[in-house]
Amino acid sequence: MYSLVYRSVADESFVLPDIYSMLSRARNLNAENGITGCLLYHNSKFLQLIEGEEKKIRELFQKISNDQRHHQLEIIEQRALNGRMFNDWNMAFHDYGQNGQSAFVKMGQIDSYLNASNAFKQKNPLVLSFFSEVKDILFSY
Ligand SMILES: Cc1cc2nc3c(=O)[nH]c(=O)nc-3n(C[C@H](O)[C@H](O)[C@H](O)COP(=O)(O)O)c2cc1C
Repeated sequence: MYSLVYRSVADESFVLPDIYSMLSRARNLNAENGITGCLLYHNSKFLQLIEGEEKKIRELFQKISNDQRHHQLEIIEQRALNGRMFNDWNMAFHDYGQNGQSAFVKMGQIDSYLNASNAFKQKNPLVLSFFSEVKDILFSY
């Protein structure tokens, strides 16, 4: 099992509805390839964790790197892991606005983690524990 975390900046034209259609295809492809993970979107920036077989992760990251809908990709962390963090999620994603009050509260909490951890700004070996905290927030309701 291998995991990779990168950050990137969304292209101006790549907005929420487009992100949702990208995700819907990505989730099918991830399911076919045994890939799980989590994609966070915050102020036009992405932070994504992908996990699966090392070869599959490298292939997917190659595709994602060539994707013109975002730029300034930077790998924050990659490593072999014993297990998955997002077992049941072919790509978890959280919507800022559409799920009512509790989603709003969750995103507020995630925002404070993001700000506190500087995860979008610098290479951070603690980013995996950061995702573990995000997971607790997203799925604790
Ligand atoms: C921020 C971001 C995250 C993405 N995450 C995934 C992903 O988890 N899985 C995936 O298959 N494609 C993902 N994609 C899309 C891929 O870059 C690519 O468009 C998709 O895999 C379809 O590739 P294909 O039609 O060439 O097979 C992502 C793209 C962006 C911009």
